[in-house]
Amino acid sequence: MKEFIFGAATASYQIEGAVEADGRGASVWDEFSHTPGKIRAGDTGDTACDHYNRIDEDVAIMSELGLDAYRFSVAWPRVVPDGDGSVNEAGLDFYDRLVDRLGDAGIDPFVTLFHWDLPAALQHKYGGFADRRCVAAYVHYVEAVTRRLGDRVKRWITFNEPWVYSVLGHMLGIHAPGKHNPWLMMRTAHHQLLAHGEAVSAIRASVSGAEVGITLNLSPVHPMSGSEKDRKATDLADQFLNRFYLDPLFRKEYPRELWKKIRLVHPKVLPGDMEIIGRDIDFLGVNNYTRERGYYKRRPLFPFHMTGMNVPEAEFVRDGVQHTSMGWEVYPEGLYELLTRLRDEYGNPVTYITENGAAYNDRLVDGRVEDPLRIDYLKEYTASVFRAESEGCNVRGYFVWSLMDNFEWAEGYAKRFGLVYVDFPGGTRIMKESGRWYADLIRETKKKRRGSD
Ligand code: FCB
Repeated sequence: MKEFIFGAATASYQIEGAVEADGRGASVWDEFSHTPGKIRAGDTGDTACDHYNRIDEDVAIMSELGLDAYRFSVAWPRVVPDGDGSVNEAGLDFYDRLVDRLGDAGIDPFVTLFHWDLPAALQHKYGGFADRRCVAAYVHYVEAVTRRLGDRVKRWITFNEPWVYSVLGHMLGIHAPGKHNPWLMMRTAHHQLLAHGEAVSAIRASVSGAEVGITLNLSPVHPMSGSEKDRKATDLADQFLNRFYLDPLFRKEYPRELWKKIRLVHPKVLPGDMEIIGRDIDFLGVNNYTRERGYYKRRPLFPFHMTGMNVPEAEFVRDGVQHTSMGWEVYPEGLYELLTRLRDEYGNPVTYITENGAAYNDRLVDGRVEDPLRIDYLKEYTASVFRAESEGCNVRGYFVWSLMDNFEWAEGYAKRFGLVYVDFPGGTRIMKESGRWYADLIRETKKKRRGSD
């Protein structure tokens, strides 16, 4: 049987802390988290999991889990503190050390180049990715990282969830940089895609044997009711959430119907842009947690809504269906549905599930964390992935979000996604039962696959 990669994922601002170490510049998330009222309980990423100072311990945990791969992100403000000026070698030293430790442990790095912590200087100078000049700044940064790590890192992810960065950050205002402006949202979307396309070539030019991809947050959108209105609204919602990225990347065009509807807020698309965006990639990263329900909402431009945009953030069971502490419905069939859709409608690209997991109200009791709901979640979602694989979907790996509890953006430390419990603020790590379960799954699956060769 084909090789299947098991991993876990994290992101720089969510785990590193050490926000002033070794010449790091500020990011939009430092500024946002320090703005009163933006983050639950006033939490910030100032210390987070203090991963910056604990990489030996954290790599040892990955070994204990038996991970094949570790997906982490590089903080742009560590590498180019003012966004587009000189390169800070001391910031790169940290990632250099991390990659070496991973190498010693036989763990393959998957490196995300942008997981939302834009250098604040670029936000102030240009308005960030809403401005086309940010594309060149990004490529400059990407070249610095890939030149330094490219001898050991072969798997590169240009962007994490550009939809979330553009919509939650520029339209809903609940993520950095906290804007409420549909024009900024659309320009940020287009320029991230453009920067992705430019980076595909830049990375291949500096890394021999590079495999380059992008990670999208994809979710099936199902209509809330059988009405024609809700059905149509759901189709638009799908174009907004899923196809707005899939279509440019795989078909070199924005989804036509939605594009027509939002004429008023179009970003400027220059001749040649769609060719750059649609450059061949080596893999697609898929982040999926739940499904969305779409319905009609009377308003200009976007006459639809999705349940996920306003869920009660609490664990509950409704009609026998479990919802996580983010309020997200547990819907494992959704991941199967997504993978088969990629197979049938987008040419069956090589795919990694780059994030999947659940937050639950974990409790540390007598030094142990029993988290049966997370085990159920992971069991069902991985089964969905294996089912899709057995039906010809080109899925090659699966990463749990997250390796350890961390700073969950607007939710601060209140939402725990880890396989490993982190006792904040001290930072002690404790393997959860789900971590032990995942280690067993990895071991057993490998044994089975070797046996079937
Ligand atoms: C995704 C993000 C990741 C994490 C999970 C729960 O949208 O990529 O950083 O916060 O959600």
